[in-house]
Amino acid sequence: MIKFSPIVLKKTIMEIEKLFEENQKWAINTKKINPEYFSAVENHQNPKILWIGCSDSRVPAETLLNLNAGDLFVHRNVANLVIHTDLNCLSVVQYAIDVLNVEHIIICGHTNCGGVKSALTDEDYGLINNWLLHIKDIRFQYSSLLGQVSSENRTLILGRLNVAEQVYNLGRCSPVINAWKNGKNLSIHGWMYNLANGMLEDMGVCASSRETLEISYRSAMSKLISEVEQEYKQNIEYDENNSSNEE
Ligand code: CO
Repeated sequence: MIKFSPIVLKKTIMEIEKLFEENQKWAINTKKINPEYFSAVENHQNPKILWIGCSDSRVPAETLLNLNAGDLFVHRNVANLVIHTDLNCLSVVQYAIDVLNVEHIIICGHTNCGGVKSALTDEDYGLINNWLLHIKDIRFQYSSLLGQVSSENRTLILGRLNVAEQVYNLGRCSPVINAWKNGKNLSIHGWMYNLANGMLEDMGVCASSRETLEISYRSAMSKLISEVEQEYKQNIEYDENNSSNEE
């Protein structure tokens, strides 16, 4: 049995009580501002968007989209992955499409993602290493490209590759395939959120059918790859010019 010292126990109780206090303040204040708020959301939800984002505490989906309760159906996991055997994520996707009739699914990565950063190391973080292997697969798939990226930018580039790969995964999972086959109005999108300025960036990988998925994924990937290669070439030329100037 775990024993807490009286001081630790008191601190724990105070921290939890604080959460309830803040909740009460919020509920009372919300009702004061909008007396219909809770009765409007109590019995139904009608979100048009499913958000698949990172669990990171700095990426609060509703807040950064300036939306309210009831506007967004949300699934979050470490590094916003859509894994074809993850029944949790796939159940959310299926329910969102078949029951809630969402029209958009957004997969949103973010800059400086701890999951992506960890996948670039060979550190042992415990059980989560198995989850991160999905990103490590992407790291190995694009290892020669990532080799052309400076170490400061590697997390960002792998994060972007990850978003595109996850949109591609999403577009090939059965709930999405079936929705498109049945003529449902459903678009999927890949975005990045910039922690430094709060701005969203559309990664350009967006699809509303199996065909547009292939086209969009391939063009977004080749754009990203050519940007990295171009920057690498410019850096090499800059280094060569500088070293010849020094001679
Ligand atoms: Co993250």
